[in-house]
Amino acid sequence: MSQKLFEDIQNLFEFFDQCLNVKFFIESEKKKNELIITNKEQKQEDIRKDYKQENKVNKSIYDEIVEMHMKIGEPYMEIKEEKRKLLEDIAMRIINCKMCELHKERKKAVPGDGSPTARVVFVGEAPGYEEDKKGKPFVGKSGNLLMSKIKDILGLDRSEVFITNIVRCRPPQNRTPEKNEIEKCSPYLLEELNIIDPQLVVALGAPAAKVLLMRDEKITELRGNFYKRSDYTVFVTFHPAYVLRNPGVMDIFNEDFKKIAEFLRSI
Ligand code: URA
Repeated sequence: MSQKLFEDIQNLFEFFDQCLNVKFFIESEKKKNELIITNKEQKQEDIRKDYKQENKVNKSIYDEIVEMHMKIGEPYMEIKEEKRKLLEDIAMRIINCKMCELHKERKKAVPGDGSPTARVVFVGEAPGYEEDKKGKPFVGKSGNLLMSKIKDILGLDRSEVFITNIVRCRPPQNRTPEKNEIEKCSPYLLEELNIIDPQLVVALGAPAAKVLLMRDEKITELRGNFYKRSDYTVFVTFHPAYVLRNPGVMDIFNEDFKKIAEFLRSI
């Protein structure tokens, strides 16, 4: 399948997701000509199983999908554009934010980054040295590790997910953000989640889990589990910086990403 056709189909699936509450996705980059169709509603489960059994979808169905995309893609693109504008508005407020002391030392504030219609959002703690320099989340060593898992285990590109933090300015010497900094800054995260409306939010480390779940347990107690919330599900895993400092937990980190992949396949 050509890249253009693949992108058209992906856009159409996102449209279904946003407007019709019907989930379609291509299982993986490598299997572009194998299609699995999912739907939130239980009654669609049988259809999904049938498709899973057959799995192969012939060219003419792709042609039909592309044709439909031409007809109904426009409102979807408007929704995506609308979400992009709303996220840009939050980004501008973050860039100009002076609500806590952290703004005094920052080079750049770091808004969230990625697809406005992402199905999965990753939430870290706060920008580090590289992020402060570039104004973009997870672009240093931790970011490299996170991106490799997103690509290799989830089969997704950075542009297909949304990556953000609970605090948007770098704390001095990368210390853990303080309570008042988190309280001032975390409403930006909740606004982003409200606009994107993802199916899964992945908390990277205890501070992100604490904000998303309002729970205070240790990361070792929370990680590896899904927590259902009214709007989305939260999954907790280690922060990639912790994994880099403790390579012994890399296997557990990989297992967590496999659980995320399984979850995204199942919804
Ligand atoms: N660590 C984080 O928690 N966030 C970033 O953006 C980078 C490193």
